[in-house]
Amino acid sequence: MRRTGINLGERSPDNRRTAMNMWTTEEANNVLFKALAALSTVWAVLVALLIVTYASRAAQSWPKPPNRGHEPPVAPYWVPYFQHIFSFLWDPNGTYQSSKNKYPNTPYTLLMMGTKFHIFSSKTTVAHVFSRSRAFSFEPVLSSMMENGVNLPEVDRPMFQVTEGSNRFVASNHNIWLKYLTGKRLDDIMAVYMKNFHHVLEEHMDLQSREWISVDFHELMRRLIFEASLVTFFGTRIQYYWADIWEDWKLFNDATYFGVRSNWAYYLQPRAGRARERMLQAFEKWADIDPEEWVSEGVWNETWGIKMNHERELLGRDYGFSLRGRSCLHASFLFVIVTNAAPMATWFATCASNSPAALARYRKEASTLLFPGTSGSFHELGFDVIALKKNQYIQGLWKESLRLGSASAAARVVMEDCELEGYKLKKGSVILLPVQLMHFDESVFPEAKSLLPERWMVKDDQDEAEMERQRLQNQSLRSFGGGTGLCSGRFVAEQEIINVVSTMLLLFEIEFDVGWKEFKLNPRSIGVMSPAKPVTARLRRRIYES
Ligand code: HEM
Ligand SMILES: *[C@@H]1O[C@H](CO)[C@@H](O)[C@H](O)[C@H]1NC(C)=O
Ligand SMILES: *[C@@H]1O[C@H](CO)[C@@H](O)[C@H](O)[C@H]1NC(C)=O
Ligand SMILES: *[C@@H]1O[C@H](CO)[C@@H](O)[C@H](O)[C@H]1NC(C)=O
Repeated sequence: MRRTGINLGERSPDNRRTAMNMWTTEEANNVLFKALAALSTVWAVLVALLIVTYASRAAQSWPKPPNRGHEPPVAPYWVPYFQHIFSFLWDPNGTYQSSKNKYPNTPYTLLMMGTKFHIFSSKTTVAHVFSRSRAFSFEPVLSSMMENGVNLPEVDRPMFQVTEGSNRFVASNHNIWLKYLTGKRLDDIMAVYMKNFHHVLEEHMDLQSREWISVDFHELMRRLIFEASLVTFFGTRIQYYWADIWEDWKLFNDATYFGVRSNWAYYLQPRAGRARERMLQAFEKWADIDPEEWVSEGVWNETWGIKMNHERELLGRDYGFSLRGRSCLHASFLFVIVTNAAPMATWFATCASNSPAALARYRKEASTLLFPGTSGSFHELGFDVIALKKNQYIQGLWKESLRLGSASAAARVVMEDCELEGYKLKKGSVILLPVQLMHFDESVFPEAKSLLPERWMVKDDQDEAEMERQRLQNQSLRSFGGGTGLCSGRFVAEQEIINVVSTMLLLFEIEFDVGWKEFKLNPRSIGVMSPAKPVTARLRRRIYES
């Protein structure tokens, strides 16, 4: 019988040693052999388990015809218990697309740790789901993001739960967003925003120099958007309570891809967890004030930020939120205003510069919309923003950038057993509407992978067929979600990014290190995708003509 190094009692006397002795080479080889044998057995069992799982899932995963009382078919997966979760988190787009190839004409289901996520992507179903906010509820999704992403305290969680089919706090909060983030107030806020943007730009760039400088372009845009947003929405005061504001923000924001799904992300990445804690402590100080102190003629006070956030603070107090709970409300708002706008600014600028001719066209269109009196050496550009947004080329480019750069997937919880597209859905399962499946639908967007602003541009002599084509395109562009969850900041985003990018492209010559064709986006995103790798660009102050 062979001995193992562990089984000391079986040693023969001639070979006796204490456990401290080195093993002989032969023994060591034996042990190694056994260990390898054991490992390969474990490995074989694992592989067999994966194969058996996949095979048994594949056998049950054939596309099923509708109207037979079935649930949508579950796409095959390799790993029991976790099911699709790893492939979904690693490459959501790839996971949706490859399953869609298997089920080209029907919905299908991804399973993640026992929860069913039914994937739908037909435009009519998407519109149907968005318009039925009671049957397909957004609130549980919001509530889970508040719990995971900003660790909302237990005591405040009921505020986000639906009772008797509605939620008064969430509805009132929504009304405040609507009131401030549309119409005249929005224009006033955006005027403040652009003023702040120019201050921030002055701080980070030498606007007098005409030398070429090399920058990490996404890092630059991210920082400009973050700082301009922070001081516009929360005033200068927050900076005094939050020392490493920029570093902390990046740590927190980078962790949210996993973090909005599971609070574990912040324990597994303790630096991000500590950064989040410092942010929440800063917002506690920001919120812990005498409400009478906020005074302003208009919509903004430099110290306090925009009036909207003051109103949200009062609303939180009215509903009996804890101080930490209110801090979570403010931090989550900071998150939604920056997290997608920053990568969108980078991406929109990249799309606008996709070729020298495209960039020249952008500059030409934008420079005609500068207010008269903007002089060539002065850097605070004033655009007629309304006209800038309406400009056919710029608007077409904006929509096309949204189409190609979005990776959001609206999620809605099924509140009662029901049927959709002829398939049964059970209460408690989740409907997932991935925009990439809609945005790359060749029947709506021919040459879907190409950037074609023209497809959105309205011609003067447009016929009925063309109108219909554009109507379908409009319906399929879902970067901002829809229904109850529809992004309240979509007008802010459009105005902010078009204005900021027009400013940057008129103020600077820009040369990217990688060409348009090699530019890759990171599929792991909860909204707009960031570049997959750092984007080096050379910038030089240009003297524009107006
Ligand atoms: C290009 C930039 C942006 C994109 C693509 C985007 C996208 C989204 C999406 C997909 C949702 C969830 C919708 C759903 O599940 O149906 C959302 C929610 C939201 N967004 Fe945006 N967003 C952007 C910028 C902004 C900005 C700049 C603001 C604020 C000024 C903002 C404020 C909000 C708010 C408050 C919500 C939550 C709505 C609610 O809870 O009822 N977003 N956004
Ligand atoms: C902003 O608020 C501060 C503190 O209450 C106040 O002293 C200041 O006058 C306000 N600024 C404006 C422009 O109203
Ligand atoms: C598409 O949406 C835009 C607004 O983004 C609107 O101005 C246009 O009229 C819509 N086109 C059609 C054909 O519905
Ligand atoms: C998403 O998937 C499509 C189809 O497989 C692919 O062409 C596209 O490049 C992917 N996008 C990203 C950002 O990975």
